This record gives sequence, structure tokens and C-alpha cells, in this order.
Amino acid sequence: MSSYQFPETFEWGAATAAYQIEGAVKEDGRKPSVWDTFSAKRGRTLNRDTGAIACDHYHRYEQDIQLMAALGIKHYRFSISWCRIIPDGRGAVNEAGIDFYSRLVDCLRSYDITPHATLFHWDSPQALEDRYGSWQSREMAQDFADYVTAVVSRLGDRITNWMTLNEISCFTHMSYDVNQTPKHAPGTRVKSKKQVWQTSHHALLAHGLGCQAIRAVSPVPCLISLVDNPGITVPLTESADDIEAAKNAFPYHCGNGGIIYPAITGEYSSQLLDQLGNDAPDIQVGDLDTIHQPIDSLGLNIYTGAYIRAANNSQGCEWIDFPKGYPAMHMPWLQIVPESLYWGIRHVSETLDRPDLPVYITENGCAAQDEVTRSGEVIDSDRILYLRQYLKTVHRAVDEGYPVRGYFVWSLMDNFEWSWGFDRRFGIIYIDYRTQKRIPKASYHWYAECIRQNRVV
Ligand code: NOJ
Repeated sequence: MSSYQFPETFEWGAATAAYQIEGAVKEDGRKPSVWDTFSAKRGRTLNRDTGAIACDHYHRYEQDIQLMAALGIKHYRFSISWCRIIPDGRGAVNEAGIDFYSRLVDCLRSYDITPHATLFHWDSPQALEDRYGSWQSREMAQDFADYVTAVVSRLGDRITNWMTLNEISCFTHMSYDVNQTPKHAPGTRVKSKKQVWQTSHHALLAHGLGCQAIRAVSPVPCLISLVDNPGITVPLTESADDIEAAKNAFPYHCGNGGIIYPAITGEYSSQLLDQLGNDAPDIQVGDLDTIHQPIDSLGLNIYTGAYIRAANNSQGCEWIDFPKGYPAMHMPWLQIVPESLYWGIRHVSETLDRPDLPVYITENGCAAQDEVTRSGEVIDSDRILYLRQYLKTVHRAVDEGYPVRGYFVWSLMDNFEWSWGFDRRFGIIYIDYRTQKRIPKASYHWYAECIRQNRVV
């Protein structure tokens, strides 16, 4: 009966992001983000989809919050759009933009759902791209901090869980590239790898200055987190040698050594710097201190992992390719590696000198080829299979005493999956984009049951 039982304090949630669900891109003073511009260009997103309407959550948030309440989640992670709050990127605050999030937060709280707000989920103001190339410029970090000040000083009485930036490598290393047109907005080709690394360094500075801004203006005590998507090294077998190899390989991943390490330890990992050589970013005096701010938890977005085994080479390990036919969900990178959640939590805890640092799974989930049956249901047993296996490994981490505090499924509802447009469905609620009808999938009902019983069912 009590198998896979979670502690009473475990936080069950669901996650979304502004540009992926809100729509209403021209309303109440909002101005374009780089994703509006990028997705309007031919060949950048599948079917030339854009987030102009998306799930129309901007107008339907009350209905969506009712669905959250019926699901039983007590925690909701969403993002705030910089382009609604400061439409020109810097300068005047648009109070109508603040009002939307104020209504959203009040509605959440009226259902006893705690808001967890991400301050940046990839939708940089186009005005700053035009002014100085957004993340290519150091100025972006200070403009971000000023935007954070505007948000937190107005909403900080009711939002006390803040996440600074979501998945730094995705809006830097996947948005600026040397060899090809990048898949993510603004989609800029740069001349050197060093320039790419400079963009993520600027994002780290934004995280640091953002943390300082939150602490400076929050009217009440609050919690701050950085959300990242580390590459997870998973021991192929759990022999002592493979475990050691997977652990040692963890800081080699660029996103780990170059993003989580500086933010949590105040240093880029030495393994990564050796690998980068002249491609490492320019770091000014004091930058690492700015970046290395105290945070209250680390948010991990984990979907898959890479198998590693011990080997007699300079790295002491071998990265194993997935064999043909390895089980995967509906994305080219979405191989099913349930233990990636457990190992993500454990590596973070064991390699960052912060074994006490609380960890949240801020995203986990999968795309599946959902179809509506004749009777109007979506019976996504494949998503349930995926989620159930993954959640069991979170339970293992809890059981072994790692400080994992909560889990947010990605996503509450199907949404605009960036360059894949609406073609890929990650939700536990199906969206019929023609009618905007919401259909809770079988996985929604399964997740509700897990929450009700506080265990993996
Ligand atoms: C991570 C991103 O944060 C989110 O925006 C995206 O939709 C999911 N991964 C799925 O790819």
C-alpha cells in the first residue's frame, strides 16, 4: 500500500511558459519578442507556426486554473513576459502588463495554488535585439535586472517563489551558432565559439544581478532558484566504476560546467575550461562574484540522459550511443531514460559542494502522438508509462535522502513547442487549436491520482 509514497511536504505541480501558451501578443501594450519576429520568418518553425494565439491562455486563464485545481496541484510554474512588463526592453513599465499577472496570481491563490514565477523563459524583447543584439551584449544583464525590479516590487507581495532564467544554454548556445542557422530565436550566426560562450556568460551575469534585484526589492522573504537543463550522465550499470565514471563526466557537459558550476560554485568547471581553451568567454574582474549569488534551490529540467561507462582513456569514461530502435517519445532527442531524474538529483548533490541545496524537478514530461478518440477522449497510455517510470526514480532519490522537494510536470497543456510549433504535444491537457477546447488526457487523470494518494500509482 505505501510503496512509492512521498513525504507529506512534497510539492506536486505543473509548468508552462508565457510565449508557449498566452497568445494575445498585441494586447494591452505588449510589444514583440524575438520569438514573434523569428517565427514569422519562413523556414524557422514547423508549418510557420507562431505563438500569436497559442492556447489563448491570456483570455482563458480562469478556466485553466480551474483545471489545475481539479487536478489537485498546489504549485504552478509559469513565466512572466518581459515584453508585457517593459515592452521596449528598457524604460517605461507597462502597468497593463503587470495587471495581467496580478489577476493570474490572485486567481491562483484563490484556489490555494502557490505561484512559482520564472522571470525569463526565452522571449527577449525585440527592441533589445535591435538595439544591441540582446544576449550578445553585457547591457542585457542590467536591463534584465531592471525588469526584475519592476516585477518583484509590484508582485512580490504575492509571489514568493522566483526563478530567474530558464535553461540558459537554450537561449544562448541554441540561439547563436557558428556553423549553422540556429534553431532558436533570434537565430543569429556569429563568427566564433567564444562569442557563443560570451552570450551564456552574459546570461549568468543577468542571473546574478537578477538575484540581487529580487533580494533588494522583495517586500517579504522569498525563495530564489535558477532553472537549468543539465546533461545527465547515467551509469550504464550501477557498478562502482560506472557510477564513478558518470559522476566524473557530469562537469564536462557544457551546460553543467559552464552554467550550473559558475552559478553554484563561483567557478567555471576546470574540465570545461580545459576543453574550451581560447573559446572560453572573457570574464571581467568581479563577474564570478556577481554570478555566484546565494540561491535557495536549483530547478532541474530533465527529459532524458546519456549512458556512460568506465573506460581506460583520458576522461576515464565512454559515452554510449543509443542503439537503433531504443525506445523514445515523439522528439528526436527524447529517448526514455527514467533514471536520468535520479542521477540528475544525485550528481548535483554530490558534485557541487552543496549537498544540502534543495532541488526541484521544474520540468519533466514528453511529447506523444495524441489523438482524440470518437468518444472525445485522449488516452495517452504512452505518456503515463513514461511519467510513471520517471517518477519512480524521483521517489528513489527521496528515499535515499537527497533533498528533492517537488516535481512539476511539463506541461499542464499542449502548447507552442518553439521551432516544432504545435506539431509536438507535451501537455497532460489536450488543446484543440481550432476551437481552443481543453480535453484532460488520461495522463491528467493518472497524475491526479498520484497527487491524491501522494505516491506513484
Ligand atoms: C524545455 C523548455 O523549458 C520548454 O520551454 C520546452 O517546451 C520543453 N523543454 C520541451 O522541449
